[in-house]
Amino acid sequence: MADETNFSCNLLYTFDIWDLNNGMCALANELVKDSTKDIENSTDILQYYKYGREEGNVEFIKQLAIFLSHYYNDDIKGDTLLPTYGATYGFMLAMSHFLETNDYLFVEDLTFGGVTGQAKEYGLQIESVTCDREGINIAELEERIIKCRKTSTHSNNERKPFWGIIFLMTVLHNPKGTSYSEERCKAVIKLARKYNLLVVVDDVYNIFQFNENKVKRMVTFDNPSDPDYGIGHVISNGSFSKILFPAIRLGWMETSSTWLRQQILKRCDIESAGGYNPYNQMIITSMLSSPNIKTFIHQVKTIYKEQLDFTFNYLKENLPKNVEFNHPQGSFFLWMKLPCSYTATELNSRCKKHGLKIMEGNFFSSSKDATAYTNYFRVCVSNFRDLKQLETALKVFCGVVTTYLQQ
Ligand SMILES: Cc1ncc(COP(=O)(O)O)c(C=O)c1O
Repeated sequence: MADETNFSCNLLYTFDIWDLNNGMCALANELVKDSTKDIENSTDILQYYKYGREEGNVEFIKQLAIFLSHYYNDDIKGDTLLPTYGATYGFMLAMSHFLETNDYLFVEDLTFGGVTGQAKEYGLQIESVTCDREGINIAELEERIIKCRKTSTHSNNERKPFWGIIFLMTVLHNPKGTSYSEERCKAVIKLARKYNLLVVVDDVYNIFQFNENKVKRMVTFDNPSDPDYGIGHVISNGSFSKILFPAIRLGWMETSSTWLRQQILKRCDIESAGGYNPYNQMIITSMLSSPNIKTFIHQVKTIYKEQLDFTFNYLKENLPKNVEFNHPQGSFFLWMKLPCSYTATELNSRCKKHGLKIMEGNFFSSSKDATAYTNYFRVCVSNFRDLKQLETALKVFCGVVTTYLQQ
């Protein structure tokens, strides 16, 4: 039995597990302390401890809409937003609400393993479609949709008008770090409308775009004034996991129509639970309305950009030239390719001996070809105390890769 004397856990610092560095934890902690003080000082403590509104706390939705309008440079309306337990759960909600077992999930050939894992557990059929520099390949996607539509057993009804979901990461794809062109976003939406499919997009890294020209969310292109708009076809899942910290377990769904949001709101679990995480909604409301939030976000972005740039430059200088990777336009990941005869699994096992871990490419692969990404891997730069610790890890990492590639 585990007790305080014999319990152990692995304290490797890793490349792949999301974590905040100490500086950021300290910054976030200040905001948390201020928010909990707000609660302690409240004259109406009951409001924090009771079941919440299904639609989300009114002040939370207001502050979220203000926050997103600022960072997305867009006019976000509160009646398109719904709190969730985070982007992971946002996908689960959309999938379990609109789809039936045996329905289809169309994904990019490199996608988020967390989503395909959920889809498999639910019994969806997964179709992987290749991508080019602008996003998912439209002709191939349409071909696949037409083929799958013929075998779909979905019983169409008012609550379940979609027989499949197209799941994408259109802004700062994890792991590639790439973003979609506007034309490609519009083309995906056209297909979704034509074939009655729902598009679910994970928008969890959007505010970590470091270049001047910010890419817009897919949801903004599902325009109600389009003649073929219909009932709305896009859900964007956002999250505070990367902006604040993941243990807060709060995110939001932004829907391209009030119809989509109303459908989700009819769920019995939302009613029974009294909304998602109402207490944490109050904490975040206080954080978002704090005058310090903009400074916090600015500092967080500065730290990440510095770490990403540092890592890219360090690896360019110190890795063997036959390891390929690009400078991503934001977020915290480098997507890397070893020469064909080497594998990420072997590299990972060598890294682990030195206290490092990488995320092997197969986690992100939905391709039927099991060998498609065996020589790819992702490096995450976000969880180091400071640049010095990051440099130490990178030095060890470069040594391991160099030794491996000499064999
Ligand atoms: C694309 C993507 N979606 C979802 C998540 C998880 O988000 P959350 O913590 O909000 O569930 C991650 C985290 O790594 C992610 O990269």
